[in-house]
Amino acid sequence: MIFWRIKPLDQILATAEKKSLKRQLGPIQLTLLGIGAVIGTGIFVLTAEAAQKAGPAMMLSFVIAAVVCGLAALAYAELAAMVPVSGSAYTYTYGVMGELIAWIVGWALVLEYAIGATAVCVGWSGYVNGLLNNGIFGMVTPGSISLPAWLQNGYFSGGGFNLLAFLIGVAVTWLLVIGTSKSARVNAVLVAIKIIALTLFIVIALPAVKNANLHPFIPNGWGSPMGGVGVLGAAASIFFAYVGFDAVSTAAEETKNPNRNVPIGLIGALTICTIFYLLVGYGAAGSVGAQPVLDANGVALDPGTPAMTAACGGSQALVCSHEPLAHVIRLLGFPQLGNLIALAAIVALPSVILMMMFGQTRIFFTMARDGLLPEKFSSVHPRFFTPHVITYVTGFVVSFCAALFPVGKLADTSNAGTLLAFAMVSIGVMVLRKQQPNRPRPFRTPLVWVVCPLAVAGCILLFVNLSIVAKIVFAAWAVIGLVLYGLYGYRRSQLSPEGMARALEDVV
Ligand code: ALA
Repeated sequence: MIFWRIKPLDQILATAEKKSLKRQLGPIQLTLLGIGAVIGTGIFVLTAEAAQKAGPAMMLSFVIAAVVCGLAALAYAELAAMVPVSGSAYTYTYGVMGELIAWIVGWALVLEYAIGATAVCVGWSGYVNGLLNNGIFGMVTPGSISLPAWLQNGYFSGGGFNLLAFLIGVAVTWLLVIGTSKSARVNAVLVAIKIIALTLFIVIALPAVKNANLHPFIPNGWGSPMGGVGVLGAAASIFFAYVGFDAVSTAAEETKNPNRNVPIGLIGALTICTIFYLLVGYGAAGSVGAQPVLDANGVALDPGTPAMTAACGGSQALVCSHEPLAHVIRLLGFPQLGNLIALAAIVALPSVILMMMFGQTRIFFTMARDGLLPEKFSSVHPRFFTPHVITYVTGFVVSFCAALFPVGKLADTSNAGTLLAFAMVSIGVMVLRKQQPNRPRPFRTPLVWVVCPLAVAGCILLFVNLSIVAKIVFAAWAVIGLVLYGLYGYRRSQLSPEGMARALEDVV
């Protein structure tokens, strides 16, 4: 039973009062934070990977991933409005299913946010390198200002040190340390740029859609038992495009009137993004085609692998592009508009990194406050009022990982952590409905006994269809987390006998 230490929800709310962040975000700012976190590398970069796995049926993949996210968002909204404090799925699980499971979820959220931020850093560097390689709108000779090849890609994607991915990680860390409200204002402008870029894409691509481009519609089937391919494999990867909307709930502690504003932010952001993705996916596949590149045996190659890179050669296929949205528009005969879309991605993707790292630092902050991580992590900067120590630690890890690893595998690994968190939140909603039916719920998940079980089933389905590498990394990460909990958190927790004695000393 000792592993099932539960932190009562009222205590969670009281702890947050004691050491809290400033409440300064409103509903529109929150929705913008959500969109800022959601639209990013998923749609701008991973669309090509999704097409390689599913062909034109990637549109179905977008729908499947959106449905799973929508179900989970409804669960998130109920808990986020009930327990409006930092920490997201970690905090909710602590209050409902106990410390051990909360730790596992918090540990998995590191994959979601930190590795997710890392993936977006890499996606961003791909667009910037593309722009430099193309001579910046033709202003200089293509290739004349390119970085050396070994600085364009990370060690594990066939290069050396991805310099630009590293530098953007460092820059975003600095922005976060100097303060949330400044970051949120910058974010609002960048969200507008992304929306304009995607709208431009849709306006150009949709009229060019031809039915012939959509056949064969499902060239790789629905999936395989090992995962990583077919419509479901693509759904598991493109799920990354929706990741981040839950960052809204991690900002609950900094939100004015969170009971109303957090559900608005969550559901609003998800709905807007889903509409854009479906139109973009249809426009991309229907206008230039989205057939996978096959090996000698007629089997679709695994995206991001050296074999795929070799097979692509100088191919113009959508699935071979590192900047697919810009590429489609160029192929349709609008090279400068394609470059503009690339520029928009370059300017706007940092807002995604910002939100993901923001979410990560707030979760670490909450875990440290609970005693599961060293207390130093929860210290707040005297002038900027931000959790600066943990922001530096997160920024350091994100920047270095971004310099070394490939984007697709990072995104899949991030998804593994997210899916666990989503499933736990959905289970938590059901448990709490049984345990505390009378607790006030400013937002109630509709049809909870249908929505939550479906959300859990959807998360399991997508998890099974992730690439094998992501599943292995996830398992290894979980084992490391359990060992750390056994060695540190279990004894240092605020809810351990030692932690309670410390709290008593503080009072005396
Ligand atoms: N959803 C975010 C993206 O697509 C993480 O980049």
